[in-house]
Parts: sequence; structure tokens; C-alpha cells
Amino acid sequence: MKKLLVSFAAFLLFFSIALPANAAPKQIFPGAVWKDNRGQQIQAHGGGILHWKGAYYWVGEDRTPSNDPEKRYVSCYSSKDLVHWTFRGQILALSDPEHLGSHWVLERPKLFHNPRTGKFVLYFHLDDARYKLARVGVAVSDRIAGPYAYVKSFRPLDQESRDIGQFIDDDGSAYLIFESRPTHGFFIAQLSDDYMSVEKQVSFIRAPLEGGAVVHYNGLYYALGSHMTGWRPNPNVYATAPSLSGPWTEFKDIAPPEANTYQAQSAMLLKVTGSKATSVLFMGDIWKPGTLWDSRYLWMPAQIDNGEFHLPVPSPWLINLKSGITTIEPAANPSQQ
Ligand code: DGJ
Repeated sequence: MKKLLVSFAAFLLFFSIALPANAAPKQIFPGAVWKDNRGQQIQAHGGGILHWKGAYYWVGEDRTPSNDPEKRYVSCYSSKDLVHWTFRGQILALSDPEHLGSHWVLERPKLFHNPRTGKFVLYFHLDDARYKLARVGVAVSDRIAGPYAYVKSFRPLDQESRDIGQFIDDDGSAYLIFESRPTHGFFIAQLSDDYMSVEKQVSFIRAPLEGGAVVHYNGLYYALGSHMTGWRPNPNVYATAPSLSGPWTEFKDIAPPEANTYQAQSAMLLKVTGSKATSVLFMGDIWKPGTLWDSRYLWMPAQIDNGEFHLPVPSPWLINLKSGITTIEPAANPSQQ
């Protein structure tokens, strides 16, 4: 326990320090200021990752303070190494599409590529200021970096839907994960052939969790989420199942509960398969509700062993995308990198 607290204190100190602008790190520094190719802080909160044609595309909420306060923005970044990200633009700059009034909400965008239609389909949580609408919004583009055109909003499977997540299985089938408060649980639902709607329920997991994420690793499905404490962190949990339709085990903590997921909340699980290893990356947000634009990212390779999912203490790490091997380094002052 003492060791955990010391490591965690080092982590807290660590993420209060920004990387120098001229540094070209090879590692990912969980919790540190993460800058794009322009030297600007990456705005991809509550995001999702699409792996397409050899590159990774990260989309997320763009909370830049100078954005038009009447609009909501989604930004896109691309990378070939998961460390260095090139800004590809604000792919969606949306005016209140359903007349929801000021303080309307666009959160947790997730991007899919449909191999049949060739279209890129962007899902997001769409809501009013009081989070009563509880719908998904859908926008489409012929190009990955947009611009995206808003198409519609709806309640998937006629259920209230707030936090959303995405999952692509090994056979390419695409799923939306969404939290539904009245049913006290979350759904995993397959998208229709054109990805423009949610076709069928695959699983309903009776656990009131948000920030839902799923990964298929070594023959088991892992579903992960956070408890519902608004922007405040809590101990995120996971369950496993032999099939996406279940049966799911009870939920267990991904890290010592007193660590509160190292101040982060789950957003996505990314599987990277290389020639020597398959790694699962936990991607979460360290929210700063008063200054959302300055919210940080906590990405760490998960340790998965025999059905047990563990999020290690945050520390700089790197991944070799060819081999799939991740290396966690001892925590260090990032200004020395
Ligand atoms: C928790 C959700 O996970 C976030 O995306 C955001 O909706 C906050 N709640 C708002 O309180």
C-alpha cells in the first residue's frame, strides 16, 4: 500500500509538469500536457480511436476556450505511433441541431468507417443542459478528416443513451456501447449495415456504469466502465464474458479502489496486435470540470492475465507498434526526457 501511495504521489507531481515544447518524446506520459504537431494541447476529450489504413485517428471533444460558445466541436488527430499527433482539423463545428437551448451538450464522439458504403460515421452523445434528451447524434463524411454533416439524432433501441463507447470486433463488426439510466445498466448494440442506426441489442449488462468500453482479448471479452459520479473520478471496474452476449461475470476493480483510477475515467480500450504481442491500452480522461480544455489523458497499457484486468500505476511508457510490445518505464521528471 505504501509503495502504491508513493508511486501515486510521484504520478501526481508528474502530471502537474508540462513537457517542454521542443521535446520529442518517444513515450506517452499519462496525465502530462500532450501537444499536437502545432504545439497546441490536444483537444480530444472523451474520445475514440479509429485504426484506418495504417494510421490511428483520435477524435474527441474540442473544448478550446476560444471556440464559439454557441457551437460544439469535435477535433481529429492522426498518428502512426500513438505518441505524435497531427491536428487534422475541427471535423465538426455544430450549431445546436435540435434546438436544445444554450448549454446543450455534445460529448464522447466516436468514429466508425463503414467498409460497405465507404462513409465515415461519427456518433456522439447529444443532450440538453439537464441531460434529459439522452440521445445519440450522427454525422457523416466521405473523408476521414471531414467536414462532417449532421444527419439526425435518436435514442438507440428506444432507450435513453448518455455516455457512449465504441467497439469493433476482430471480424470487423461494429458496436455502440451506451449507458441507459432507467434500466440501470449499459447496452452493447450492433450497428446496422450502413452504420446509420443501431440495429440489435447484443448484450445488456445490468450495472449502472458510464464511460463504457469493450475489448476482445485472448478469447475473452472485457467490458469496463466507471461509476456515475459526474466529472469526479471513481474506481473503474470490469467484467468478462466468453461471448459478447455474455454471460458477464461480476464487476471487479481495475486498480486499487483508493487510487480512484488515478483520477481518470474510462473512454476507450484499444487493442494493438503486433508480430510478437497483443497489447490492450486503457484510454481515459482526467477531467478538470472548471477548465475542461485542460483535462488530461491517462493512457496506460493494461496488464491482463488469465481473465484479470489490471491498470498499472501511471508511468511513462512506449509501444513498438510492429511487435506490439509495450514497455513501462520508471516514473521520471518529464523535463529530463
Ligand atoms: C460523466 C460522463 O462520463 C461525462 O462524459 C460527462 O457527461 C459528465 N458525467 C458530466 O457530469
